Amino acid sequence: MDDRSRTDRTDELPNDDAHMSSAVGTPFVDDPYISVRGLSVEYAQMPAIRNVSLDFARHEVVALIGPSGCGKSTFLRCFNRMNDTIDSARVTGVIAIDDKDIYAPDVDVVALRARIGMVFQKPNPFPKSIYDNVAYGPRLHGIAQNRIELDDIVYSSLERVGLLAEVKERLHENATSLSGGQQQRLCIARAIAISPEIILMDEPCSALDPIATARIEDLIDELRANFTILIVTHSMQQAARVSQRTAYFHEGRLVELGLTPSVFTNPAHRLTEDYITGRVG
Ligand SMILES: Nc1ncnc2c1ncn2[C@@H]1O[C@H](COP(=O)(O)OP(=O)(O)OP(=O)(O)O)[C@@H](O)[C@H]1O
Ligand SMILES: [Mg+2]
Repeated sequence: MDDRSRTDRTDELPNDDAHMSSAVGTPFVDDPYISVRGLSVEYAQMPAIRNVSLDFARHEVVALIGPSGCGKSTFLRCFNRMNDTIDSARVTGVIAIDDKDIYAPDVDVVALRARIGMVFQKPNPFPKSIYDNVAYGPRLHGIAQNRIELDDIVYSSLERVGLLAEVKERLHENATSLSGGQQQRLCIARAIAISPEIILMDEPCSALDPIATARIEDLIDELRANFTILIVTHSMQQAARVSQRTAYFHEGRLVELGLTPSVFTNPAHRLTEDYITGRVG
């Protein structure tokens, strides 16, 4: 039910200093797979993520939305510790995956990254063959025991993204010879070839046409059976189509996280409403 006239919508911002942030909606779940508590990120003392607390369940797709610069990419990069590679970035707070703090000193970051695939806005195939792009992660992480196993991973990953039929005669051609949509599906095949548990997607369709976008959206829905997917998108239609829950970020704060239909038809926060109705961003 569309009820934009509700009167209990809040204007209050989550408190930066509170032990738990006060995002509205349903930021926590009963049996969390990933728990984020008091997460903050600063770049050279400039806050980019402010005291975010939430949970993700297994096998859910969560859309991360909000105006440009609100911290979506920064937030996503916390999960595979990519912010570690940015000198000025400082991450505080806790991210636990399966109850294990991924920022604990004994965590092997390479092993962590093998559990988490990432797909970027612009397709970024390596300047290598189609085959070698998909085989890259399994080789790096020693996932295949021999060539037969490696072939099997490469073929099945390409099959899952619906690319095998299109490329099987040209596996040894350079990946840069593929179309943009094919390159993005190749990048998703590369991400899933390591059998990750989590896939991070940062605006994966923004460089694609509607047909290629529809294929990727269908793929996201299929992949959900095996993976937990966090997807940043500027398209509200896309968020509504692919996700079960949607998180709205504003100036580094998690303002609202709730079931996608409810966030889009009956947001609980004034800022979410302003964004989804086009008054901001
Ligand atoms: N490497 C960096 N060094 C310094 N500041 C950064 C860096 N990356 C991001 N920031 C700053 O952190 C804030 C959040 O940026 P971020 O890229 O996470 O936003 P975003 O929500 O992904 O935006 P967009 O929708 O435009 O991609 C911005 O103010 C940005 O300028
Ligand atoms: Mg971004």
